[in-house]
Amino acid sequence: MKVIAVANQKGGVGKTTVAMQLGAALAGRHRVLVVDVDRQQSTVWWAENARDRLPFDFAGSQHPNMLGRLTELTDYDYIVVDTPGSLEDTAVLETVLDAADYAIVPLTPEPLAVDPTMRTVTRLIEPRHLRHGVLLNRIDPRVPGQLAHWQRLLDVEFGLPRFGWHLRQYKAQADAPVLGQLVSSMRHNRRTDGVIWDITQIAAELDQLLSPALAGRW
Ligand SMILES: Nc1ncnc2c1ncn2[C@@H]1O[C@H](COP(=O)(O)OP(=O)(O)O)[C@@H](O)[C@H]1O
Ligand SMILES: [Mg+2]
Repeated sequence: MKVIAVANQKGGVGKTTVAMQLGAALAGRHRVLVVDVDRQQSTVWWAENARDRLPFDFAGSQHPNMLGRLTELTDYDYIVVDTPGSLEDTAVLETVLDAADYAIVPLTPEPLAVDPTMRTVTRLIEPRHLRHGVLLNRIDPRVPGQLAHWQRLLDVEFGLPRFGWHLRQYKAQADAPVLGQLVSSMRHNRRTDGVIWDITQIAAELDQLLSPALAGRW
């Protein structure tokens, strides 16, 4: 059983999106619980909209202390935790990171997101010797050189580990919470193929990293 924290003290970088969609992708092969410890409860709204299409078990509005207990009691393969992005909730995030086996740090390609991301990694994640990877999100393939520029920043300037793949910006992804959609129930078409492909690559990378024995072929 692995606890995956989706963390970044910057809001709006895609934590909730990654927690829900990665949970859905992993649920195709594993027993998954998605937990929300964020006061804003964005996942709760999403989960309500999804109703019976939720492919994983879901625990909204949780106190982070429940994670310590859960890890002893359950036989989930993955527990994916959505965390708050505000500095006031640092204690909540720290409790989650204490229980985590891995931290995914979503990052959008905006200069303003860099400082809070570096702070999250250097102050909260690295001191715990917690394995982690930055996940570039909302990459716009129509912007020439954007992906290469941000990959280079991470690799060379910041020296942060990152996922090999990234999430592109899609309207279908932005619409997913209100429609209660998750990649597990999206129909394949021109609007959704990239959304499904991207998160499946990330799920496969994570699986390869954390549960190579279970990973098999994606
Ligand atoms: N890859 C993406 N493509 C399009 N919209 C996205 C993508 N990732 C996130 N969003 C949108 O960006 C906003 C912020 O994402 P969210 O997951 O709520 O971030 P956080 O939880 O870090 O605050 C939401 O409206 C979400 O739907
Ligand atoms: Mg959120």
